[in-house]
Amino acid sequence: MDWGMKNRISRIIKPASGRTVMLAVDHGYFMGPTTGLEQLNKMVDPLLPYADTLMLTRGALRYYIDPGVDIPITLRMSGGTSILNKQLLHEGTVCSMEDAVRLNVSCVAFSILVGAEYERDTILEFTKMVDNARNYGIPSLVVTAVGRDMVRDARYMALASRMGAELGADIVKTYYVDGFEKVVESCPVPVVIAGGKKIPERDALQMARDAVSCGAAGVDMGRNIFQSGSPVAMIQAVRSVVHDNASVDEAYDLYQDLKGNVPAQA
Ligand code: 5RP
Repeated sequence: MDWGMKNRISRIIKPASGRTVMLAVDHGYFMGPTTGLEQLNKMVDPLLPYADTLMLTRGALRYYIDPGVDIPITLRMSGGTSILNKQLLHEGTVCSMEDAVRLNVSCVAFSILVGAEYERDTILEFTKMVDNARNYGIPSLVVTAVGRDMVRDARYMALASRMGAELGADIVKTYYVDGFEKVVESCPVPVVIAGGKKIPERDALQMARDAVSCGAAGVDMGRNIFQSGSPVAMIQAVRSVVHDNASVDEAYDLYQDLKGNVPAQA
């Protein structure tokens, strides 16, 4: 692997732990002003010191994030359908690689629809992105197993994740399921989990704990951080699980302690 590619990956997946806390705030590309992200910068700025990378769209990056900030960017490159559309996630390319380079991103991300209608379109478009990104030494993250009506079990997740890697992804983002070790064992690149819809903080920490215990390289978590009762406390609790191997009890205690000390966010 090229030096630039390795360097960018090691800015996201920290060599000391081999893990990462990715903060996903890309929801606006299909959900509009998602709860918690109405004024994205107000939510995200206090979380930045605790995130290893910020995953978002080029618009959110340009409009809401200070270019002086020191955080690697994972740029969402796919889109084209909204939450209002029945063909949700029939996504194509919504950003050129030249613009990604202008934005000095460390990784590019694309969603594919394995086992669903439009599977082929999304996969072929994803592989074009991988080729373009490699020309610039930029790693690719594939988002898989998103979508309504999908049976999310370890067999399916393993299939979708392995496909993503074999088709060129350097990092796979998918959902935690029972038997997740099978997904990780059969995927040759690091696997991170999405958080999914907001659940109680302790349950989200348990999910992160279970995922890393199964070999996941960490989380790419959004709503379970920014919709938490205390996002700044929650991201630090998630971080303790991912990077410090904290138990769920330890992480939840940390969350409760920090929650008491952190002023509520606007
Ligand atoms: C699914 C995505 C989301 O936009 C987002 O990144 C998911 O984060 P979470 O589920 O943790 O809120 O990648 O297409």
